[in-house]
Amino acid sequence: MEIKAVILAAGKGTRMKSNTPKVLHKIFEKPLLGYVLDNVKNIVNESFVIVGHHAEEVTEYVQKEYKNAKTVLQTPQLGTGHAVSMVCPSLENFDGQVIILCGDTPLITEDTLKKFIDYHNSNNSDLTVMSTIFENPANYGRIIREKDNSLKCIVEEKDATPEQKAVKEVNAGIYCLNWNKIKQAFCQLTSNNAQGEYYLTDIIEWGKKNNLNVNAYIMENNEEIYGINSRSNLATATKLMNKRKLNKLMDNGVTIVDPDSTWISEDTEIGADTTIYPATYIEGKNKIGNNCKIGPCAHLRGDVEIADNCKIGNFVEVKKAKIDHNTNAGHLSYIGDCEIGSNVNIGAGTITANYNPLTKVKSKTVLKNDVKIGSNTVLVAPVEVEEGTNVGAGSVITKNLPSWALAITRAPLRIIENWVRK
Ligand code: UD1
Ligand code: MG
Repeated sequence: MEIKAVILAAGKGTRMKSNTPKVLHKIFEKPLLGYVLDNVKNIVNESFVIVGHHAEEVTEYVQKEYKNAKTVLQTPQLGTGHAVSMVCPSLENFDGQVIILCGDTPLITEDTLKKFIDYHNSNNSDLTVMSTIFENPANYGRIIREKDNSLKCIVEEKDATPEQKAVKEVNAGIYCLNWNKIKQAFCQLTSNNAQGEYYLTDIIEWGKKNNLNVNAYIMENNEEIYGINSRSNLATATKLMNKRKLNKLMDNGVTIVDPDSTWISEDTEIGADTTIYPATYIEGKNKIGNNCKIGPCAHLRGDVEIADNCKIGNFVEVKKAKIDHNTNAGHLSYIGDCEIGSNVNIGAGTITANYNPLTKVKSKTVLKNDVKIGSNTVLVAPVEVEEGTNVGAGSVITKNLPSWALAITRAPLRIIENWVRK
């Protein structure tokens, strides 16, 4: 059956106390919304992102990064139920399934979503809500069940009685529904609650009243539905995501010397037998080969591709660079907008001067195979160094260099004898 996603991202995110819309806050330089869109992209053929607060910024991000996603405007923002009703015109003749997710829940995985949809299908469910158990369920909607354990309704924290507040099963904010059977509900929700909003959660009661098959899928790993409502939640989610990534890498044969001080983005691939030393921070999308040594204290900023047997050492920052095998940059360097061959040695303190602050143009540095760059060299881009050439320590290279040459711009050394005594 055809599946479409609706992702709620119109809310203000009041608790973030920010000028940036909540769903554009970042974990490892990727907006929260991006994680959700990436997790559904192999499951659905189209996503609708509901935008409202700072709609222009969110729309710009979605249009730039996601071809199979459309944005739908919700103004004013009258609640999660009202948000979903905004897609009714776009899905008027749609006869498939819709999964609804929140843009502020980035830890959900594709695997869990697939299991959730399988559960929905194998139970012939019309409406399935994902739930989980939290020891401290504060702030989440509570799942209220009948005596026979079937679903009754969802009650928001603000509307809950003390008895309901004690319930530890919470609403994950993820739903799967057979669109044709539920779409009517969105015209009939009311805003008769503590927040004066149209709650999406009210579709549970609506479904039961209309004799639909309504179920809850209890997922085990409650980390995945961790919702971000505050800066402190954002920090916790970043930690959770990092831990998950490091464990996955270690399972695949990567040595992480100190998981407590190492940060690696979800979109970074690392080959077996590579070692990541402490205090290394890797953000964005990167690919690192086998048998590499990265860090301690290395910073990879995204769009970095490193082949096998390379070394990126202490205090080396790398951004947008393609580095071929057996190449080393051991110490204190900045490598940005580069294409670097194999068996290249980049001496301590080498800088690629890739940015012209007057023209605001970034330019590329190309180092071919077997090039050796002496310590404290500045490579002023755009610049190309042909195969095998050596650059003397302390040089400033402003022109392309031919192959197998020596280039050196160092001022001659003067020794003035007895200068200090005189
Ligand atoms: C919501 C659920 C709660 C659940 C929790 C899980 C409701 C009423 N409550 O609460 O049961 O436990 O998520 O994380 O659904 N949004 C809009 N338009 C609006 C309002 C919100 O698009 O008019 C979006 C927000 O941008 C956000 C999402 O909907 O991405 C959820 O809104 P939020 O205010 O975070 O709801 P919670 O209080 O977390
Ligand atoms: Mg939320």
